Amino acid sequence: MTFSTQPVSPALGIEVDLDPARDLDAEEQAELRALFLEHHLILIRGHQMSVDDTVRVCGYITDVLHKEGVPPEAYVSTPKGDAVLPDLEVPWHGDMNFNVTPHLGAALYAEEIDEVSCPTWYANAARAAEKLPPELRAEIQDLEVAHDWPGTPWDPTFNPVEATRHPLLWSHPLSQKPFVYIAERQLRQPHLIDGVDPAEEKRLIDELFAILYAPDNIYEHRWQTNDLVIWDNLMLQHRRGNVTGRRTLRRLALVNGPDAAEGDEYFDIQGTMRARRLGHVATA
Ligand SMILES: [Fe+2]
Repeated sequence: MTFSTQPVSPALGIEVDLDPARDLDAEEQAELRALFLEHHLILIRGHQMSVDDTVRVCGYITDVLHKEGVPPEAYVSTPKGDAVLPDLEVPWHGDMNFNVTPHLGAALYAEEIDEVSCPTWYANAARAAEKLPPELRAEIQDLEVAHDWPGTPWDPTFNPVEATRHPLLWSHPLSQKPFVYIAERQLRQPHLIDGVDPAEEKRLIDELFAILYAPDNIYEHRWQTNDLVIWDNLMLQHRRGNVTGRRTLRRLALVNGPDAAEGDEYFDIQGTMRARRLGHVATA
């Protein structure tokens, strides 16, 4: 073990003592990647970091989404530039879940945080999959969920048949470990799980959410200026409350392979911001 580490919670996450200004050798990079896959969230605290610094550190783990001619970073919360989602509460979700290939991960770097700023909460969907009672696991094993673009229930041009489908119990592309892939934010959709009636759907969702959002399955991250949080966007869900005070978070999207978001161009970071201007919702 090269790095000094400590868990950030019993549910998930690990803090890594790492100097982001120093290039990591191949062994250290492999160790960081292994920590990410095991703990699903990495916190690096107390170092001022440029965009290039965060791109380099995230790049040790997987590919950073970077389209030609478009900056890789975007801003979340307030009050800088064209901030995505400035202040409203956002329920539990995974980013870009409606993509054919949802982003593998995301990173937020805290440029400036007030003490009154709200936390981000993370729930462990991989741990939830491990804790499924056998009967519930058997019930959901082959089910699929429709993932609508969050604005679509109010979009008269949207055809629910065209919603992206993902397995309710999906497996991670790098570790092949299972995770539960359904989130609170999707409840605004008129339908969710294919092939079950509304009463059955409600029962399944209630049982799954009781495991996913149990207090012992959640980590509350209280932001400090200069925090870098890198998380697995498949194994973890996240949410936030109403934002007060300054909470300037700089975001990168992580993907599995440089072409992983092929075909999902509309829903990359810039797509999020375009949709945001239309009143739609995405991100942390
Ligand atoms: Fe988000």
